[in-house]
Amino acid sequence: MTIDTIKPIIITIDGWSSCGKSTMARELASRLGFVYIDSGAMYRAITLHFIRHHIDWTAPQQVSAALKEIELSFRFNTDLGRAQMHLNGENVEYLIRDLSVAERVSEVAAIASVREFAVAQQRRMGQHRGIVMDGRDIGTVVFPDAELKIFMTADNDIRVARRFLELRDKNPDITEADVRSNLETRDYIDSHREVSPLRQAEDAVVLDNSDLTPQQQLDIALAWARERATDK
Ligand code: DC
Repeated sequence: MTIDTIKPIIITIDGWSSCGKSTMARELASRLGFVYIDSGAMYRAITLHFIRHHIDWTAPQQVSAALKEIELSFRFNTDLGRAQMHLNGENVEYLIRDLSVAERVSEVAAIASVREFAVAQQRRMGQHRGIVMDGRDIGTVVFPDAELKIFMTADNDIRVARRFLELRDKNPDITEADVRSNLETRDYIDSHREVSPLRQAEDAVVLDNSDLTPQQQLDIALAWARERATDK
């Protein structure tokens, strides 16, 4: 694999659930020699901690006390060649993908103090630039000055089918209807919450990957990255 050497810029990738943001962000970062950060994994790990410790997240004091007990880190797994989410030193990369976490994460991610906690860490991770971060508010709130902002979207049925295939491997009892209902609920909460709702930044470029192969979408994003790295 070739690494393109371009100036270290910030690339944000926001969009709806399950439209392939993480896969593309990871590939793009690895082609550019940039750091990749999956911001959704941070909200998922916080949610896992709250579930495990029976935190009532409608109680602000319980939330702020619980956040003080959380240390999040991405640690590189050399066998897999990618970073994995760690919660207080424990590798939770697989646990946080479970439907039990997916069903609650949007509620937790809507809490202002949770977002402040996560956003502060996300900004520190981007202080040297040379980063690709995906999420919902990365181009609008976390890095409003990013050189390249991509808003990803894909047809609803395609997103459900992709996520169903992914989750069915781990959970054979899951139905396509479960997946559809989870995606619809999350998208609704993510785009209607008061704090940092999912929306397209005014200066974002839209990438609809419904009819694109992973290689085609990567090529488009790489071309945009090269262009933005020379522009500014
Ligand atoms: O990208 P994901 O599906 O792993 O994200 C999990 C949840 O976290 C999703 O419902 C929205 C929320 N999220 C968010 O509010 N802001 C982000 N920057 C990333 C994710």
